[in-house]
Amino acid sequence: MKYKSTRGNVKNLSFIDAFMMGLADDGGLIVPESIPIVDKDRLAKMSSMSFVELTVEIMSIRKQTMSVLVATSGDTGSAAIHGLANKKGVNVFVLYPQGRVSPVQELQMVTVQDANVHPITITNSSFDDCQTLVKQIFSDLPFKSKYNLAAVNSINWARILVQIVYYFYSYFLVQKKQQTTNKEVVFSVPTGNFGDVLAGFYAKKMGLPIRNLIVSTNQNDILDKFFKTGRYDKSCGDVIPTVAPSMDIKIASNFERYLYYVCQEDASKLRQLMEDFNRDGVLSISPDILANQVHSLDGFLSSSVGHQEILDTIKTYYQTFNYLVDPHTAIGIAGSKSHGLKNLNKFTDNPLICLSTAHPAKFGDTVKLATNVDIENQYQATKQLLEKKQSKLNVNTANCNIEEIKQFISNKRV
Ligand SMILES: Cc1ncc(COP(=O)(O)O)c(C=O)c1O
Repeated sequence: MKYKSTRGNVKNLSFIDAFMMGLADDGGLIVPESIPIVDKDRLAKMSSMSFVELTVEIMSIRKQTMSVLVATSGDTGSAAIHGLANKKGVNVFVLYPQGRVSPVQELQMVTVQDANVHPITITNSSFDDCQTLVKQIFSDLPFKSKYNLAAVNSINWARILVQIVYYFYSYFLVQKKQQTTNKEVVFSVPTGNFGDVLAGFYAKKMGLPIRNLIVSTNQNDILDKFFKTGRYDKSCGDVIPTVAPSMDIKIASNFERYLYYVCQEDASKLRQLMEDFNRDGVLSISPDILANQVHSLDGFLSSSVGHQEILDTIKTYYQTFNYLVDPHTAIGIAGSKSHGLKNLNKFTDNPLICLSTAHPAKFGDTVKLATNVDIENQYQATKQLLEKKQSKLNVNTANCNIEEIKQFISNKRV
């Protein structure tokens, strides 16, 4: 499998090169040269595999020495830290917006005391600011090469690749549960950076029978507006802090990858769209492409879910099914309702699968507000976090002090 940049000037990359590069050297994002199609025989073989076997089937990852740089809205950073803590030859630097991740998410990062782990909290910032800082650091090519920078976040192709597995796995589970084969399903996906739902798009293109992919956002609804109108417009104001903070994102970093396919994999058309967006803060596609490709062919639908609807969904779901969902998952569930998919248990024509993206104990305050259940204190793992030693670097980047971060990275080389 070879990889290329959406902007057309970087081609023929190996997986390892794509992984190390993170952001492509020409400023684009990395996509596969071609998407492999899974034929029916292979699909049948895959249907009886365990999650781990499916993962091995769909991907392969190799190790290297690197400085891993991550911008996180809460979860990716802690996943990267826990995956890389105490690993030889790897330093991990995680940038996150102060006060814009939940207290438990922050504790999961700052209580890991291994010497190669470096959480960096950026004051007066949103996730978008952290992501911009990471992109700026990556665009300094000599620095990137000198410190062997790699990205582990939702723009890294490796993450998308692994997320494709969720769709195959849950698809097979539902077919087994409903004793059906090849029945088309609908996925509703809580969306911020357009990574997880993009993985669903790749799964659909690979041949998995997916009828629709519902892009479910919180009040930061730039993507919802795009999928409804064909207009992607960043002039909609600042990022709104919500009770689903991991999706408090304005500019979805992976969206360029989907636009590339909207442009029929024509890098010059994509470049034009991105130039429009960078110059005017808005890009748009024609009503014809929106209807025939985005909606019909690719099956995208979308929803934006407000504060009260999130709380109501957590409460209703708990009362009806005795099942606690976190606010992001609630957005996936609520997002499907506006498309008439009202009863999760009885939706049998095209089974509906909502991706559950976080444990409710990470967002205890909101879960308590909705249900009165004190999950954060009932759950040992979150209680124990409070007792651990904490450390992090505070960077005040009201003026985006990128040099301070670069200095920190260069001082902490393993
Ligand atoms: C809990 C949670 N839900 C949903 C999302 C949104 O996923 P994506 O950014 O891939 O759209 C994230 C992103 O990190 C997340 O942490």
